Amino acid sequence: MAEQGKVVVITGASSGVGRACALRFASRGWSVVLAARRAAELAEVAAGCRKHRGARALVVPTDVTDPEAVDRLARRAVAAYGRIDVWVNNAAVAAFGSLQEIPPEVFRRVLDVDVLGCVHGARAALGVMCGQGGGTLVNVSSVVGAGVVPYNIPYVVSKAAVRALGGSLRQEMRLAGQRGVHVCTVLPATMDTPFFESAANYSGRKVLPMAPVYTAERAARTVFRLARRPRREVYVGPAGRLLGIQAKVAPALVERLLAHQMDRSHLSREESAAPTSGNVLRPLPRPGSVGGGWHGRRRTAVRRLGTVTLAAGVVLAMGRRACGGPGRR
Ligand SMILES: NC(=O)c1ccc[n+]([C@@H]2O[C@H](COP(=O)([O-])OP(=O)(O)OC[C@H]3O[C@@H](n4cnc5c(N)ncnc54)[C@H](OP(=O)(O)O)[C@@H]3O)[C@@H](O)[C@H]2O)c1
Repeated sequence: MAEQGKVVVITGASSGVGRACALRFASRGWSVVLAARRAAELAEVAAGCRKHRGARALVVPTDVTDPEAVDRLARRAVAAYGRIDVWVNNAAVAAFGSLQEIPPEVFRRVLDVDVLGCVHGARAALGVMCGQGGGTLVNVSSVVGAGVVPYNIPYVVSKAAVRALGGSLRQEMRLAGQRGVHVCTVLPATMDTPFFESAANYSGRKVLPMAPVYTAERAARTVFRLARRPRREVYVGPAGRLLGIQAKVAPALVERLLAHQMDRSHLSREESAAPTSGNVLRPLPRPGSVGGGWHGRRRTAVRRLGTVTLAAGVVLAMGRRACGGPGRR
């Protein structure tokens, strides 16, 4: 498929999944428009897109909590490349700790970035796409949008909201007769990115990625596939898909299991951590990268074990349901 001349806007392109998406689209000849707060990191990603992939790349430093800045991002993309085929609402932050531990201003800012950032992005992107009669908006949610966890409430609430936003926007596009405009939601399982090191953390315990851990490139491949063939919702990683099924079939069981798993393996029992607002209130002066160093062989082994355990959980839950087991919600 000839893809030269196609244009993608990616928020949160300085790190992790967004950075991997930029390189993925660039490698297929797309023009990429890169947004995040750290200009120097974006410039490095743009250089990688141009040098190694021969793509056109535009850097537009943007804080997604600022609706005018997000509108400007859309205008800059159209001015430079003439259209927007795909917009990826990917930027996000998180704050770990209990509800009582997370300061209100940090809680609010996570919602601002993760929810309103997507809302501003959707408004800007769909304005352009409806005008040009086609395009695909991709909102990056998370498996926690399907199965909730404790000690990360602002993020969990945000990702559920992003999932709901996708559904409502699809309805609005359909009712507006915008058949060429698609809205897709991506629900990744745990990705190997700098996310866990960058997050705000008031729990007193070091944040560890919850196994199984998948590569950011895997998420980027999923996003790229959506650009070619839009779908309503897509999980990234089989563990995510299984969790989605489990959460539908046995919500009470999943709620209990995930609480346990979060407490046992997402927050370290051995390593402590000083309170930090991480990259929530302002960007961290740290070099960006795609990976976070979590995708080792040990993780792969744990990943397999995790997938098998989840599969067993599904079978167990379905069996219980079939036998009229606990129907508590
Ligand atoms: N990692 C996981 O396990 C995982 C799992 C499920 C879903 N996800 C989702 O995947 C997406 C990407 O996450 P990631 O893992 O790649 O995290 P990441 O490496 O921490 O990247 C987050 C990106 O968001 C940008 N950002 C943060 N605040 C911003 C703001 N106010 N305005 C503009 N950009 C901002 C950051 O750049 P600057 O600091 O330069 O602004 C960075 O580029 C997120 O939506 C996340 O919720 C991640």
